[in-house]
Amino acid sequence: MIKSCVIGWPIRHSRSPIIHGYWLKKYKIDGSYDRKPVEPNALQDFIAGLTSAGFTGCNVTIPHKEAVFDLVKADDDTTRRIGAVNTVYVRDGLTHGTNTDGEGFIRSLLQSAPDFSIVHKRVMVLGAGGAALAIVNALLEQGAREVAVANRTIERAVDLRSRFGNRITPISWEKIADNLSECSLLVNTTSLGMTGQPELDLDLRRLSDRAVVSDIVYTPLRTQLLKNAADRGNTVVEGLGMLLHQAVRGFSLWFGTIPEVTPELYDIVARDIDPAHQ
Ligand code: ATR
Repeated sequence: MIKSCVIGWPIRHSRSPIIHGYWLKKYKIDGSYDRKPVEPNALQDFIAGLTSAGFTGCNVTIPHKEAVFDLVKADDDTTRRIGAVNTVYVRDGLTHGTNTDGEGFIRSLLQSAPDFSIVHKRVMVLGAGGAALAIVNALLEQGAREVAVANRTIERAVDLRSRFGNRITPISWEKIADNLSECSLLVNTTSLGMTGQPELDLDLRRLSDRAVVSDIVYTPLRTQLLKNAADRGNTVVEGLGMLLHQAVRGFSLWFGTIPEVTPELYDIVARDIDPAHQ
């Protein structure tokens, strides 16, 4: 029996066990994937004791992604650039860490907007936190010409420019609407619009109707930003797609099968979030 899990603090709301549980059943793999609450002060011991506890790896979520980066061997450039780990796996007794958030975002984008190409495009990213870091890095790797980063705390957007170079343009939070006209893609990486959080109140009038609008928030499945964008004819990318696609590489590293993100899986997780989902 191959064992994996997701660690975080708190962890009870994680949907990852639904995703991996679906694939374990679908591919008839003798494995398990559970939620493990791990307090910050217990993190180091948990990672050090992963193998002796019988785990072949784990997913890492808030607030541990940066701390785990310092506890494992990060072997790819993407993970080293981001400085955060969401997937841990053991190989030959060594504990490795990687980050699949960026590829999850890009695959979800391409699934919902198959005709869209990022190459040479101008993109607007809202937010400059941990999620933005993985997404901005992925957009640059995919060949974006310019990534405008708008953040309430402008210093964090300026930090992204220091980290990633002059393809990043920091934008003050009040100037988002004025800077939308040249954007081919708008991405919300903040928690605004999430159930229980304030709305993201954005005037989209200057945004081209050919632009793609994406939100990483998936509770609700379709945020007000996405509803507003869809109403004016923009292609929209729901946040749940990123959650599903970021899970693919971890599953294949632990269980040895590359799993498929199917409409059936989407519907199962969507119904867990919103029982009214058809
Ligand atoms: P994550 O790892 O999920 O990205 P984070 O690092 O705490 O979490 O980042 C949250 C993002 O949402 C930040 O960009 C934050 O802006 P600040 O850097 O100014 O804190 C943004 N955010 C959260 N609440 C917000 C609000 N009420 N208005 C504007 N931005 C907000």
